[in-house]
Amino acid sequence: MKPIPLPPTSHRPTPYAGPSAAQVLALRRQYLNPGLFLYYKQPIMIVEGKMQYVWDDTGKRYLDGLGGIVTVSVGHCHPHVVAAAQRQNETLQHSTTIYLQPRIAEFAEKLAAKLPGELKVCYFVNSGSEANDLALLMARLYTGNYDLIALRNAYHGGNASGMGVTAHSTWKFNVPHSFGVHHAVAPYPYRGAYGYDDPQAGRKYAEDVKSLIEYATPGKVAGFIAESIQGVGGFVVFPDGYLRHAYEHVRAAGGVCIADEVQTGFGRTGTHFWGFETQGVIPDIVTMAKGIGNGAPLAAVVTTPKIAAVLAQKVHFNTFGGNPVVCAIGQAVLEVIERERTQANCLELGAYILAGLERLKAKYPVIGDVRGKGLMLGIEFVKDRATKEPAKEACAQAVENARELGLLLGKGGLWGQTIRFAPPMNITRADADFLLAVLDEAIGAL
Ligand SMILES: Cc1ncc(COP(=O)(O)O)c(C=O)c1O
Repeated sequence: MKPIPLPPTSHRPTPYAGPSAAQVLALRRQYLNPGLFLYYKQPIMIVEGKMQYVWDDTGKRYLDGLGGIVTVSVGHCHPHVVAAAQRQNETLQHSTTIYLQPRIAEFAEKLAAKLPGELKVCYFVNSGSEANDLALLMARLYTGNYDLIALRNAYHGGNASGMGVTAHSTWKFNVPHSFGVHHAVAPYPYRGAYGYDDPQAGRKYAEDVKSLIEYATPGKVAGFIAESIQGVGGFVVFPDGYLRHAYEHVRAAGGVCIADEVQTGFGRTGTHFWGFETQGVIPDIVTMAKGIGNGAPLAAVVTTPKIAAVLAQKVHFNTFGGNPVVCAIGQAVLEVIERERTQANCLELGAYILAGLERLKAKYPVIGDVRGKGLMLGIEFVKDRATKEPAKEACAQAVENARELGLLLGKGGLWGQTIRFAPPMNITRADADFLLAVLDEAIGAL
């Protein structure tokens, strides 16, 4: 493969002097759970990050095309975020919600202002899995119903309830976890029954939600949970109208609608701040994590005052949720998003890159589909465009090749057949050109 120069940067990383990658790997093998998995045949050790770039222990620089799994929203070690964390770290690191604390209250006000309608009450937790667990609890308590509808090809977390609503066999252990959960057909235009050329696809896929309610539940449900674009599932964008029709069926059965914005929130889709807005709906409960904290363990559930009130029936508490340091970080992230117009950048560069991906698709038959919104873009690999047999090996090799060329990418889809590109939202046109040149080279070399 011919080398492709990374766009220049003024950041000079500190020479790394810690344990070697081999030593860290040995420690990890001995002391960390073997369930943790690594990307790359030769594992990479990242030791420094600045905005959209990261450096490994050898000093090699990469464009971070996955952003720590769609989490580094405004850039690694963004100075405004670092300064906010630093100030709060030196003032008060922890207090819990049993005392008044300014940071949590101020951040809740700022976050609520970003949400439409009655979505004005926040509950802070530490991870997306916890946020979804709480959202499902609220849906059940509020409606008095038990059954939940989720989607196939979804990922909502690794705890018991998250695993229950997740629908990829790869992430589900053989323990009881999905009691009361029913998985509707994924509105997946590339692989599903209704393709991109069907203007009624959204309505037709949503019929399965109605059918599940009628056949598999008592006719009443607690709620419906869906990512606004399926993340782990391979950046599957739903056809227009899908969520609107699905929400109608769910609400008619007494349920509430939960939008999992863990990957799609905070302007990443470019056209809107929240992924659900791209479908023209307003959910009853929104869960968020990852990009909200730019890497800090911060997550939230935002809902209406009426739904939120159900948690007051008992004592409910989360020790770290709303910690002053992470709330200061969350507020700083929102400020950067506004000041630096990162949503507009996602829109502009997302369209530019998608056009480039379409050109690559025309060039390489191994690419079956390219899709996405804003800076959330997927490339699905197939062995044969007619059968759409997933090409997991080709996808994995393309990701390996890209790493060699200085680009980190993600993988997704049930079979690991889809490349995921979801970098920090501050990448530049030069980064976009670098990405496209690397992909051309990495896929050309397969
Ligand atoms: C859409 C979605 N929801 C929930 C989660 C779970 O978040 P966490 O890993 O923070 O528990 C993830 C994690 O990848 C996710 O992608």
